[in-house]
Amino acid sequence: MKISIIGAGNVGSLTAMRLAQENIGDIVLVDIVKGLGRAKALDLEDARKTLGINYHIQGTDDISQIKDSDIIVITAGLARRPGMTREELLSKNAAILKDICLNIKTLAPQSILVVVTNPLDLMTYFVLKSTAFKPSRVLGMGISLDEARFANLISGELNISVADIEPCVIGSHGQEMLPLPRFTKVKNKPLDKIIDEKKIQGLVERTIGRGAEIVSLLGSGSAYFAPSAAAAAVARAIAKDEKRAIGACAYLNGEYGLSDVCIGVPCRLGKQGIEEIIELELNQKEKEAFFEAAAHLKKQYNAL
Ligand code: NAI
Ligand code: 2OP
Repeated sequence: MKISIIGAGNVGSLTAMRLAQENIGDIVLVDIVKGLGRAKALDLEDARKTLGINYHIQGTDDISQIKDSDIIVITAGLARRPGMTREELLSKNAAILKDICLNIKTLAPQSILVVVTNPLDLMTYFVLKSTAFKPSRVLGMGISLDEARFANLISGELNISVADIEPCVIGSHGQEMLPLPRFTKVKNKPLDKIIDEKKIQGLVERTIGRGAEIVSLLGSGSAYFAPSAAAAAVARAIAKDEKRAIGACAYLNGEYGLSDVCIGVPCRLGKQGIEEIIELELNQKEKEAFFEAAAHLKKQYNAL
């Protein structure tokens, strides 16, 4: 199993570290900045003795090293600055991904792509169209991070373990994400049967604002510990053929009554990539909000 990570910045290098430590496969860490990927890979390699794990990691500024990768995690691009929306990143990151997609197409035509670069849902659509890969082989990591954040905030509110919470978020990885209380389970009970509406609304708003909260506290760059954990979990589910349900940005072709849009939905992930798109029985209000998020994304496709 060969897993390449393009972009050796905060999210990329931590994703590499997490995957290496689980010894899932051979890791290649690529960055356009000369020496950066190699430096981080050497540093990670030096930890093998202490950790007692003989993982294989290679760092490079030569994109041709992604050749024949099974999985490619794309984290290359700019991160948000304080006050900057994910959408503002659109044109700059699309230009970066355009070149990367050309390389992927020729060097690793059988790979499964996990897009992390923001604005996530638009970049996933852009990568899908630029590579012309089968939609099951291109997915974006965004709402699994939002789900982890939602679970964390619920656990704080109820003073219970995150292990007792099964969060559910759909929509875009942005202002139009939809944490769904009816489908979020706390000890197997729906969240809306456990906490009152006002408190739920507060948790939902904090989840939506979490990325921006961290951006403004950091002062430069954006979150990376939880994002890298979420990206590694997606890559692991594919590499180990887990067939586990994880929220991901997927191309919809009729599912949920939507077509030609990449948006966050629960997916079953395995060695083929997206092996199933799980359709939730949304009520009218949830459906309207989901359709609105999809329409907002589609409006921006022209700018790609
Ligand atoms: P970073 O700035 O630390 O790292 C980005 C790296 O990409 C840099 O090292 C840069 O040199 C490299 N890069 C730029 N162009 C490249 C190219 N053509 N080929 C190879 N490498 C290239 O940023 P960070 O924090 O790692 O974030 C990366 C991206 O992930 C950003 O777009 C950010 O907004 C996004 N992100 C997405 C999340 C999600 O949930 N989907 C969560 C967190 C970050
Ligand atoms: C986050 O949600 C910036 O997408 C990134 O933290």
